Amino acid sequence: MELGGRVAVVTGGGRGIGRAIAAALVREGGRVMLADLEAAPQTAAELGAEGMRCDVRCARDIEALVAETEQRLGPVEIFVSNAGVGFGEPDHAASAPDAHWQACWEVNVMAQVHAARAVLPGMIARGEGYLVNVASAAGLLAQIGDAAYTASKHAAVGFAESLAITHRDDGVRVSVVCPQYVATAMIGYADGDAGDASGVLSPESVAEAVLDGMRAERFLILPHPQVATHVARKAGDPERWLEGMRALRRRALQEHGRADPVTIHRLV
Ligand SMILES: NC(=O)c1ccc[n+]([C@@H]2O[C@H](COP(=O)([O-])OP(=O)(O)OC[C@H]3O[C@@H](n4cnc5c(N)ncnc54)[C@H](O)[C@@H]3O)[C@@H](O)[C@H]2O)c1
Repeated sequence: MELGGRVAVVTGGGRGIGRAIAAALVREGGRVMLADLEAAPQTAAELGAEGMRCDVRCARDIEALVAETEQRLGPVEIFVSNAGVGFGEPDHAASAPDAHWQACWEVNVMAQVHAARAVLPGMIARGEGYLVNVASAAGLLAQIGDAAYTASKHAAVGFAESLAITHRDDGVRVSVVCPQYVATAMIGYADGDAGDASGVLSPESVAEAVLDGMRAERFLILPHPQVATHVARKAGDPERWLEGMRALRRRALQEHGRADPVTIHRLV
């Protein structure tokens, strides 16, 4: 898709990867609405974007976000469902409380369903549109220490595949973004911190990969290209892949006494 001057919505745009994607779209001349749990007016002003409060777990909030964007900026041409949550787990792989499983389901999956419901009819009627759903490499592989995050991100990848199969013939493009580790608050970095472990990307480099993928209309956007190799190895020999993941978990436990996502990201 030619990205110049498009009307775009970015959820979770107040910081991290969402903020960087919103900034990159504004640099393309885009008219961008960033949405977050708080309106993030300062971030919006810094970027030259609009800002609005939206809890993506709530279908009505997403409908209001789309209606307000259309009123202020025009029909939504690009919807980036980026907001996401992960909590880790206190003990065994089913030990996270129901509230955390539910939040992962609502934010990482259902928010992307609500967004598609809100914008697809208009995109289909116009014969053009772009849904960009941020999932994770955990949606193709696994996040050690967070089964709820892993399961929800697998669901997000599956939903994006369904969108791409069903709506390409309507003119609607779909990408699913599956990064490994990125230097954001989600894994303990402050905005602007450089990643201090090898393989940790900045939000800005992820945003560049996203826009490159959108220009090419590529379904699977892998800011860390090595993820493609891991996915091929997993498909080719799942037993060997699982043993490699177990070895990584054992190493985290031996060296750090824990195998949570923040510890694991320093070992990958
Ligand atoms: N940081 C990583 O290592 C990493 C890796 C792979 C994928 N991701 C994914 O990238 C996306 C962005 O994550 P990030 O790293 O920038 O994290 P982050 O925690 O820095 O930012 C997430 C943003 O989403 C917002 N948000 C959370 N719940 C919301 C809700 N209910 N309604 C509206 N906004 C909400 C937060 O307020 C925050 O601004 C997420 O989907 C995440 O799962 C992150």
